[in-house]
Amino acid sequence: MYCCKVDRKEGEKLRRYLLDRGLLNREYKIRREGNFLYIPLIHPLEPILEEELRSLVSSIEFLELEDEKFQSRKDSKKNMSFRDYLLNNFKGEIEKGWISLSYDVIGSIAILQIAEEMDIDTRREIGENALKLIPSVKTVFRKKGGIEGDYRIRKLELLAGEYNTLTLYRENNYRLWVDVEKVYFSPRLGWERKRIMEMVSPRDVVVDMFCGVGPFSIACRNARKIYAIDINPYAVELLKRNIELNKVRDKIVAILEDVRNVDVSGNRVIMNLPKYSHRFIDKALDIVEDGGIIHYYTIAKDFKEGERIFESRCDYEILGRRIVKSYAPREYVIVLDVKVNKA
Ligand SMILES: C[S@@+](CC[C@H](N)C(=O)[O-])C[C@H]1O[C@@H](n2cnc3c(N)ncnc32)[C@H](O)[C@@H]1O
Repeated sequence: MYCCKVDRKEGEKLRRYLLDRGLLNREYKIRREGNFLYIPLIHPLEPILEEELRSLVSSIEFLELEDEKFQSRKDSKKNMSFRDYLLNNFKGEIEKGWISLSYDVIGSIAILQIAEEMDIDTRREIGENALKLIPSVKTVFRKKGGIEGDYRIRKLELLAGEYNTLTLYRENNYRLWVDVEKVYFSPRLGWERKRIMEMVSPRDVVVDMFCGVGPFSIACRNARKIYAIDINPYAVELLKRNIELNKVRDKIVAILEDVRNVDVSGNRVIMNLPKYSHRFIDKALDIVEDGGIIHYYTIAKDFKEGERIFESRCDYEILGRRIVKSYAPREYVIVLDVKVNKA
């Protein structure tokens, strides 16, 4: 948890400042230790904001502490969670599958799953409650349809709060600008990106074939070089911003292009386009160097189904297999780590 440490006497001034700017992590309580307060933040602050805070109080430190050091507000009975609100008021609708208890929070934006069967007034009422009960959220949308098109984006309906689709998201110690309407992004892949991040070595040359705003590419920043490719101009615009934000300008090459027209090679290839990755398998085999690894994401009922595509095409070895998330009843997004032997 990112936080700032200040003298108790100046705590309230700082808390107010952070609250007004949507920087206070309201999910956790402020920690008190002796004469100091540790105020939880929703993400690390830009240097310019740190500077501003230094001028606001006489002394301040910016730290990262284990989450366990902060008490969750959900522990307190007085504070009902959004999930409790849904369970208390919409049990029948939840059972019918019209309202889902799971929702995404990307920075200051919450995205709910409520079916068209719920009338618009009720949808908005749920949105208003999400705004009140989900900490740090300023905008509430509803998924209006499935993920579509080459850019893999979906339509959203505003339920509550200000109409804003751009937000800053933090995971695994990096930050990302995300536009939830113009680009694909899933916070549910954070663990998977951490898994890849831990595999990357400083000798690696990574090719992120479908990079979006760059979460996998930035997670691979320990590599020697990363080619980050996407066909969506908005995604590449934000990717460039994210490269600057995370100070990886010397590592990541941003390429706005259909990957089929890009001539690069590397020893680690990321194919995060689960629905259509099978159509790009020959291109990935072109890109990957002898002995290199393809992280192949696909939608399948089991691993064997995912593996079949490699059988007729190359000499390969499966180094790892994992279910990333569920996709539909008995269908999953899976990942295969495939070592390709070309010699
Ligand atoms: C499922 S998203 C994944 C984005 C990113 N890896 C992430 O985890 O957020 C797939 C991405 O592939 C891009 N894409 C689709 N077809 C492409 C192609 N032919 N060449 C390059 N990028 C493509 C889409 O624009 C989209 O951003």
